[in-house]
Amino acid sequence: VVSEEFLRKLPKCEHHLHIEGTLEPDLLFPLAERNGVKLPDTFPQTVQELNEKYKSFADLQDFLNYYYIGTNVLITEEDFFQLTWEYFKKISKQSVVHTEIFYDPQSHTDRGIKLATVTNGIKRACEKAEKEFGITSKIIMCLLRHIEPAKCLETIEEAKDFLVDGTITGLGLDSAEKPFPPHLFVECYERAREINKDLKLTAHAGEEGSAKYVSDSLDLLQTTRVDHGVNSIQDGELMKRLADEQIMLTVCPLSNVKLQVVSDVKELPLQKLIDNNVPFSLNSDDPAYFGGYILDNYLQVAKSFPHWDYNVWSRIAKNAINGSWCDEKRKFELL
Ligand code: HPA
Ligand code: ZN
Repeated sequence: VVSEEFLRKLPKCEHHLHIEGTLEPDLLFPLAERNGVKLPDTFPQTVQELNEKYKSFADLQDFLNYYYIGTNVLITEEDFFQLTWEYFKKISKQSVVHTEIFYDPQSHTDRGIKLATVTNGIKRACEKAEKEFGITSKIIMCLLRHIEPAKCLETIEEAKDFLVDGTITGLGLDSAEKPFPPHLFVECYERAREINKDLKLTAHAGEEGSAKYVSDSLDLLQTTRVDHGVNSIQDGELMKRLADEQIMLTVCPLSNVKLQVVSDVKELPLQKLIDNNVPFSLNSDDPAYFGGYILDNYLQVAKSFPHWDYNVWSRIAKNAINGSWCDEKRKFELL
């Protein structure tokens, strides 16, 4: 087993982190109070009760039901700045060198908040983190798959300036996977590519959905990365393609256990990915809900795969740098 010290110091890149998923109960309640947001009566009313609920989720949808309620307490640009800054303060102690942050603008614009309010708050925290911690970052806008594709197209238009000027580096797709397969969003991805041909593309796929959701994301949406993607191992052809094209899976170990995708970190097909030369990174997904930030994910994986030596871990760290959407100069600095 490699030492905890080694894992703590290992330079890390995070590629799968929903900023709304970093909303800790001890920020959620004060923000609700500050903004006069009434939480539903059925929602836990104290930090303690909420932490109790977070101990287990039945599945992705059970988690999402809580996650979207929590999101409602975020209103002002300062709220989004504060949320993001709290995340950076935590990961600044975990040797994170580069992070790519997902956000769900539709969770906010549906409540009358401007897409620019959300985006500017997150962006301001990213700039401060680069100055104060030397952590570089990119912002990835996700579309919610439970929202009508026609509505999603409107969100893309609302984000147009940010897509053109590079404030938003990539497009992603999240929320309930199985009922909303990739083919529904072909037009959205086409439109986003038309606005900026250099836009990076990813999508959640193969978390609860089958390997077909992964191959359809690649074929139909033209993504060059896959979020979760653990069900890819159901399809040998797909595995070969992921290796040949070096398509990175952004794996989230603690999330997969909490949402009952697997029963234990040990059950994740990470050895199989390594043996088949499929690149992956390790990520925290929604750390406030799943019991740990990125370092906790690294530590749990190390515990579950005790035979991995320094060479294996160095390869994982290098693959994460190579799979990042930072520019070539930054990649060179990090490698
Ligand atoms: N899957 C789908 N949607 C999400 C997730 C996830 O893991 N986290 C936040 N939104
Ligand atoms: Zn996710």
